[in-house]
Amino acid sequence: MTYAKILGTGSYLPAKTLSNHDLAKIVDTSDEWITTRTGIKTRHIAADNEKCSDLAVAAAQNALEAAGVDAAEIDLIVVATSTPDMQFPATATIVQQKLGISGCPAFDVQAVCAGFMYAITTANAYIKSGMAKKALVIGADVFSRIMDWTDRRTCVLFGDGAGAVVLGASDEPGILHSKLLADGNYGYLLQTPGWIANGAVCGTPFLQMDGPGVFKFAVKALAKVAEDVIAEAGLTPEQIDWLVPHQANYRILESTAKHLKLGMEKVVLTVQDHGNTSAASIPLALDWGVRHGSIQRGHTLLLEGIGGGFAWGAVLVKY
Ligand code: COA
Repeated sequence: MTYAKILGTGSYLPAKTLSNHDLAKIVDTSDEWITTRTGIKTRHIAADNEKCSDLAVAAAQNALEAAGVDAAEIDLIVVATSTPDMQFPATATIVQQKLGISGCPAFDVQAVCAGFMYAITTANAYIKSGMAKKALVIGADVFSRIMDWTDRRTCVLFGDGAGAVVLGASDEPGILHSKLLADGNYGYLLQTPGWIANGAVCGTPFLQMDGPGVFKFAVKALAKVAEDVIAEAGLTPEQIDWLVPHQANYRILESTAKHLKLGMEKVVLTVQDHGNTSAASIPLALDWGVRHGSIQRGHTLLLEGIGGGFAWGAVLVKY
């Protein structure tokens, strides 16, 4: 049986940081409000000349180096993003060009904060079916570009970044099971309802969100998908070494952990330093766990995330 195994992880965060105290100078908020409601203390913001593909390439190079894989060996690139460099071409093809390679399939997937779950599941299917041997899977977003910096209900929550994994075909277990879901009926809860037509931006290019609505939906949906993916793989929650959740809000990820009866010492936490980096958040947390020595070879990981669409999913991995 062929598995997709994580050969290496990588990440990139822009140099500039924006703390809660900095935000309190821009909008009517406070460190105390943001910390107690979300757990976020600071986030990274891309420089004006840094594009989504630049963040993605830096994370990819970092992952390739960790995997000991040359860019030329990559035969699939999947980028999860909802803040691409441009309308088209796909950011994945821009990443491909910047990595100095060509020929292999390269495309974007758009499932907002669940994007990395969708991207890694797609790459897993390519590898299991023999259509790819070494895949680069990247989550990269620059949500600072779609923030209304006068809207305190949203601008305090997000940050910029990128995370990447190199997946390789292996006889040893890697990705054990994956489950993806979506329900377009809830799209209105979280959206950036702008589009380009006739040379102009129509609608609004700023993110809009019903915070309490998202919170309620996320808590329920994540608990269910996490439980289901574990049961369908024939495992029990006690066998999970690390929960690597989408880092949107401390209270949401704490609720998933509680539901699975996992102590918070088994949860990789980066939300305090990164904020919600959308598609980048799970691979950023994964790379953090690996580089800090928490996540070790042989550990069983549960990755899970949810975002606009609504789209959500969970992936079980033997690291
Ligand atoms: N600073 C200070 N006050 C703020 C604020 C801010 N940054 N943002 C909102 N408030 C105010 C509101 O205006 C409201 O005031 P009012 O009662 O006078 O109208 C009050 O705080 C409560 O607002 P509410 O939206 O009900 O707060 P909440 O407890 O639901 O927390 C979120 C708001 C956004 C933190 C929370 O709903 C949440 O985390 N939702 C999920 C968001 C998310 O994860 N999105 C991404 C999913 S991928």
